[in-house]
Amino acid sequence: MLLRGNIYAPVPSSLRLNFKSQTHPRNLTISCQASLDYPLSISDETLEKRGFILRRTAEGLNLEALNKIFVAVGFPRRDPEKIRVALEHTDSLVWIQERKSQNNAVAFARATGDGVFNAIIWDVVVDPSFQGLGLGKAVVERLMRDLVGRGITNISLYSEPRVLGFYRPLGFVADPDGIRGMVYSTKNKRKK
Ligand SMILES: CC(C)(COP(=O)(O)OP(=O)(O)OC[C@H]1O[C@@H](n2cnc3c(N)ncnc32)[C@H](O)[C@@H]1OP(=O)(O)O)[C@@H](O)C(=O)NCCC(=O)NCCS
Repeated sequence: MLLRGNIYAPVPSSLRLNFKSQTHPRNLTISCQASLDYPLSISDETLEKRGFILRRTAEGLNLEALNKIFVAVGFPRRDPEKIRVALEHTDSLVWIQERKSQNNAVAFARATGDGVFNAIIWDVVVDPSFQGLGLGKAVVERLMRDLVGRGITNISLYSEPRVLGFYRPLGFVADPDGIRGMVYSTKNKRKK
């Protein structure tokens, strides 16, 4: 992924998850040229009034429950131990807990990166029973605010074509200046 006017550092393979929807050839790479601040469409307080608690660390995150959401939205089920390692190598994460079901995430997003120039957003998911309530937007906006606040100017992600319309209003642009993402996936190699 080469993004406009900045240094590109490939993500080490040790940080990549075997995440089918992220490496599928149909996916498009899109990036956001971030400004200094990033707006939130809904406050933490309003979310809380609606029964949702925001979490910004992995503490208390039930990985089995998260895995269930991955599976429910069509992502492959992953080894919880590998998820734990991936989270250890994650720079920024946001998840939302429903007050009623204390330990379970109902929305989740995370980002890895070099901490200075670039970040990549992964695993944006909302439990199907909670989709359409603004929770997906809430987690991505907070991830963005955190990354932008750290001065990271290039923020990328992989998007299924059907989800491009979700990311565009959040400031993401597909194939900026015609630049296309390329992926080497050992998973795809094995399929051939
Ligand atoms: C994509 C996903 C994260 C969206 O989360 P969500 O909580 O349902 O979305 P929100 O309620 O926050 O929607 C925010 C806005 O995006 C719009 N939107 C949501 N999904 C959309 C889509 N697939 N295409 C276009 N717009 C979409 C909503 O209409 C809403 O618009 P508004 O702000 O004008 O009202 C969720 O549907 C999901 O988990 N999907 C399965 C996993 C997935 O595809 N993840 C992305 C990996 S590429």
